[in-house]
Amino acid sequence: MTNIAIVTGASSGLGREIVRQLEGGAFGRLDQIWTVSRRAEKTSRLVRPFALDLTDADSFDVLGDALSRTPDARVALLVNNAGFGTFGDFADMPARDNADMVRLLMLAPVELTYRALPHMAAGSRVLNVASVAAFMPQPGLATYSAAKRFVLDFSRALDAELGDVDIHVTALCPKFMRTGFLDHAGAGDVAARMSRLTGFEDVARVAERGLAAARAGRSLCIPSPDMRVLYAATKLLPYPLALAVERALP
Ligand SMILES: NC(=O)c1ccc[n+]([C@@H]2O[C@H](COP(=O)([O-])OP(=O)(O)OC[C@H]3O[C@@H](n4cnc5c(N)ncnc54)[C@H](OP(=O)(O)O)[C@@H]3O)[C@@H](O)[C@H]2O)c1
Repeated sequence: MTNIAIVTGASSGLGREIVRQLEGGAFGRLDQIWTVSRRAEKTSRLVRPFALDLTDADSFDVLGDALSRTPDARVALLVNNAGFGTFGDFADMPARDNADMVRLLMLAPVELTYRALPHMAAGSRVLNVASVAAFMPQPGLATYSAAKRFVLDFSRALDAELGDVDIHVTALCPKFMRTGFLDHAGAGDVAARMSRLTGFEDVARVAERGLAAARAGRSLCIPSPDMRVLYAATKLLPYPLALAVERALP
């Protein structure tokens, strides 16, 4: 049996930290860690890097074929983490950014989960990185927040489907973290205002909480206590009211 963890978006930020913690044994014994991102390098003996663009559908086949060619491959953990978000009004945004967000944030987790599942067994886990932006529709982040809502709902439904065979799927919802994400986000004033509203959380802590939740087979992990309160509030308040409150905040 070759125990494999696959981590997308492993070249930076949260994904890089997840790989570091996996190398330290945070998910038990692994024989290989497959890292997937456009910039990919072999960072340790365990790591098998795949330099792939996950907005390109051929990349899914490359990973699926690699799994099929690995003798006795068992995917112990799939982490769908690769992502970027562009802030700003939808109409002003390059069409390509919106299409790439849809491909990277929604299509890639679906395709990779589909390809990994035949190599999973009881105890295997999927950790999907969503965001607190998933909690309610976000003007100024329309495509990103809708895509993260998809990740949240997809994860929870799949977890309920697969739970009987002890394969669990966790949606991880971090708030802002100081990573490369903010360099790519564009519309600096929107990002600055939103990060001022929610504050930042520590990347290592988010990785640790996410991996612990996946190990425990929990379908939802919101590491930050204030964001757990926000999540509950968004389920109680009608959307126009929640939006009015958000807009009234300084
Ligand atoms: N940072 C935050 O405030 C925050 C908050 C909530 C949720 N999140 C989510 O957390 C996840 C990780 O982001 P991060 O904060 O760690 O940002 P980051 O430092 O910018 O890392 C993003 C990762 O995604 C990879 N990636 C981007 N486009 C890709 C593509 N087309 N194909 C393959 N890989 C690609 C990047 O690698 P390459 O550039 O080498 O391809 C990089 O490794 C994302 O899903 C993000 O939406 C972030």
